[in-house]
Amino acid sequence: MKILITGGAGFIGSNFIYYLLGRYPEDELVCLDALTYAGNLETLEEALQSPKFRFVKGDIADRTLVYDLFETERFDVVVNFAAESHVDRSIETPELFLRTNVMGTQVLLDASRKYGVKRYHQVSTDEVYGDLPLDRPDLFFTEETPIHTSSPYSASKAAADLLVLAYYRTFSLPVTVSRCSNNYGPYHFPEKLIPLMISRALKDQNLPVYGTGENVRDWLYVEDHCAAIDLIIRKGTIGEVYNIGGHNERTNLEVVKTILRELDKPESLITYVTDRPGHDRRYAIDPTKIHRELGWLPATKFDEGMKRTILWYLNHRNWWERILAGEYQDYYERMYSHRS
Ligand code: NAD
Ligand code: TYD
Repeated sequence: MKILITGGAGFIGSNFIYYLLGRYPEDELVCLDALTYAGNLETLEEALQSPKFRFVKGDIADRTLVYDLFETERFDVVVNFAAESHVDRSIETPELFLRTNVMGTQVLLDASRKYGVKRYHQVSTDEVYGDLPLDRPDLFFTEETPIHTSSPYSASKAAADLLVLAYYRTFSLPVTVSRCSNNYGPYHFPEKLIPLMISRALKDQNLPVYGTGENVRDWLYVEDHCAAIDLIIRKGTIGEVYNIGGHNERTNLEVVKTILRELDKPESLITYVTDRPGHDRRYAIDPTKIHRELGWLPATKFDEGMKRTILWYLNHRNWWERILAGEYQDYYERMYSHRS
């Protein structure tokens, strides 16, 4: 199979590339990524050694570039991870989110139609369902939960999901959609809660907790997400949406305290800061459908996953320090300027 992975220089996409390279040596992988601030080619250094992997720098919203790539490569499967993904940034610049997350998705859908792929998979988020109240632990998001978004980020992801499903209904494009809860693990950009808190705690800097820290997220180890997407693209039913999550709900404060405990740092580093506007209270996925239909279950318990993640950040200090220093952005120039 030849698989296009968009956004593969980011957190989940890069983990997915390594997941596939380790399991399907016969598959050919092409990564298309614009290398925005969130894309880091250094993350793909090892993958770039493989003859089965090719990297293309480009914007999914660039129709000419995308069509040329599809024409040359004739992909069997497209997995779209490329997105602007940070809620706080979407509050600052919503238009960027609409351009990449909605218009970019549309270009990929059009290319998939024009050049005929066997599967187009859209990587989406549980945030399209909005949030759940804190005092109703009995409520979970199912695939039937109405779309009810809160932030420009989630609104753009929901718009993309609807477009993907419309291309199935109207044009019979063979699509699937997955909606996953919050991921954590290696290569997570240090602007998101867990890597931000680990990197700041290691430098004895204050840890900015929004509001009261009581908001709840349903955390999934990134490799479990990759395994679920892999199952969906190989065995999932066309036209279907699959929720992905592992019943690992934690308040933000619990997460931050876990990190402090593991690093043997004092809780006095915690600083309460002004809440995020429109801050979603609780996310919680009901993963019954993907378990029943595809046999998927998460393999990694939260405590184990957190230990592994913290150890990874301790052992890869160079990776995140170069990000914080902005140095990783020179990498493409250094590696590729002499090649074109
Ligand atoms: P990320 O921000 O770490 O990576 C996004 C990648 O997309 C980057 O490499 C970036 O350079 C690339 N990109 C951005 N705009 C692009 C464009 N116009 N053209 C080509 N490439 C572009 O994001 P992530 O956390 O890895 O998330 C990947 C996907 O999974 C997103 O679609 C996100 O909505 C979804 N998701 C994320 C989570 C999570 O917890 N992180 C949970 C559920 C779903
Ligand atoms: P984040 O990692 O941005 O993911 P999302 O908003 O997509 O769930 O944030 C996770 C939770 O952590 C969210 O409730 C906001 C909170 N948060 C903080 O309290 N402080 C921070 O500095 C950040 C980045 C997030």
